[in-house]
Amino acid sequence: MQNKLKEIREKAISQIENAANLEALNEVRNVVLGKKGELTAVLRGMKDVAAEDRPKVGQWVNEARDAIETKLEAQLKKLEKEALKLRYEAEKIDVTMPEVVAEPGSLHPITLVKNELVDIFGSMGFEVFEGTEIETDYYNFTALNTPDDHPARDMQDTFYLSPEFLLRTQTSAGQIHVMEAKKPPIKVISPGKVFRSDDDATHSPMFSQMEGLVVDKGISLCDLKGMLDEFVKKIFGKETKTRLRPSYFPFTEPSVEVDVSCFQCGGCGCKLCKGTGWIEVLGAGVVNNKVLEGCGIDTNEYSGFAFGIGIERIAMLKYGINNIKMLFESDMRVLKQLHE
Ligand code: PHE
Repeated sequence: MQNKLKEIREKAISQIENAANLEALNEVRNVVLGKKGELTAVLRGMKDVAAEDRPKVGQWVNEARDAIETKLEAQLKKLEKEALKLRYEAEKIDVTMPEVVAEPGSLHPITLVKNELVDIFGSMGFEVFEGTEIETDYYNFTALNTPDDHPARDMQDTFYLSPEFLLRTQTSAGQIHVMEAKKPPIKVISPGKVFRSDDDATHSPMFSQMEGLVVDKGISLCDLKGMLDEFVKKIFGKETKTRLRPSYFPFTEPSVEVDVSCFQCGGCGCKLCKGTGWIEVLGAGVVNNKVLEGCGIDTNEYSGFAFGIGIERIAMLKYGINNIKMLFESDMRVLKQLHE
């Protein structure tokens, strides 16, 4: 019996020493001291031991158990210490590492220019009207004096969603919504995305415009010119002049193309203005009476002017960009340079 206990004890001690982690140690504890453990089996067998031998055998079993428990305790401490050390290693922070700088986000150049335009026109008393990107053929064309067979429809390659619905090709569609909803005096701007099947260095299938519409008593082309003079000075600098060239839009009569004196060369001629001294910035005109009448506005009493600014075009001029795609590619190297 004594030998058997010695064997159990030595085997247990060597297993404890070999336990490489806390789980393995627990396993050994169960095998040796648990309910079905070897030492427990010996204790259960005590009833078969002669009564006079029991105290002695009992003492041996206790000694073996004490020795095993002491060893288990020591090994547990050792393994816990090791585990803690490993954890410290794994969680170690190198305070000498360079910090990861979280760069603050910033507004996209198109948004910056749009905000600037909204601020300028806002200071002149214009309200903002938000139109919708999906429009009906009626609002985008027909109500703007551009019926089905009108040749001006070819000027704008349209993405049709159905025979009735389309992606608006111009923010001018918003003019009609405003005039239907509001009686004059009207003084609104309407910035937003527009869509045309057109794609090259200066055209993108999606771009942004800002529409302006003023309807009141006695509004003329002079009011338009005066307001535009003011606007271009604010956006391109005090020295900037405007020039109106005759143009054609079905919804304005007369229609004009507006040029500004080149703000880079002051009008002498450079690469930006292609040697002409002038840069085209927007289309505008006096609102066609047919459009006003279609919206129930009495043309004996009221008249108006409208203009449409290409926001990317202004951004390209302002930031000196020669390809519109640069504004849409989200290249951080480009965007980081276009801040103010
Ligand atoms: N909608 C015209 C365009 O997209 C611009 C414009 C707006 C012209 C308002 C006149 C008046 O080309």
